[in-house]
Amino acid sequence: MNNLYHQIGHDNILKIAHLFYEGIKEDEILKPMYPKDLIPAEERFALFLVQVFGGPTTYSDQRGHPRLRMRHFPYEIDMKARENWMLHITNAMNAIELEEGVRASMMTYFERASVHMMNK
Ligand code: HEM
Repeated sequence: MNNLYHQIGHDNILKIAHLFYEGIKEDEILKPMYPKDLIPAEERFALFLVQVFGGPTTYSDQRGHPRLRMRHFPYEIDMKARENWMLHITNAMNAIELEEGVRASMMTYFERASVHMMNK
């Protein structure tokens, strides 16, 4: 994933995280899982994406090893939750201009990671 970060661009990652959370706000299944204050959650998500696509490791400097599956254990993530999560990330991605190969690599990552996060 090393060069993806540069191809995506830092500002685009921040935009994707922001647009994703705009979708979460309107989601009757997912919104109750998230904290009331979505601003710090949006920042955690953005910093994680920066790191996972090959940018600075500020996420781990602040939060430690991602251990994302474990961090998601408190939430019941079934197929429907995953489907909704994918809808919001897809909408966010579609609102951003990206080179198509870059978009496809990111979407493949999200598809796989969201399956991995299911725990129910
Ligand atoms: C499959 C459906 C998913 C659901 C329902 C879900 C739900 C949640 C919830 C409720 C939180 C807590 C918000 C917070 O306080 O930060 C969270 C955190 C987080 N999620 Fe997800 N998530 C899903 C998939 C994913 C995927 C695929 C990724 C990675 C691409 C991801 C990345 C994160 C990150 C980085 C955090 C913050 C972790 C931390 O540092 O505490 N999530 N998620």
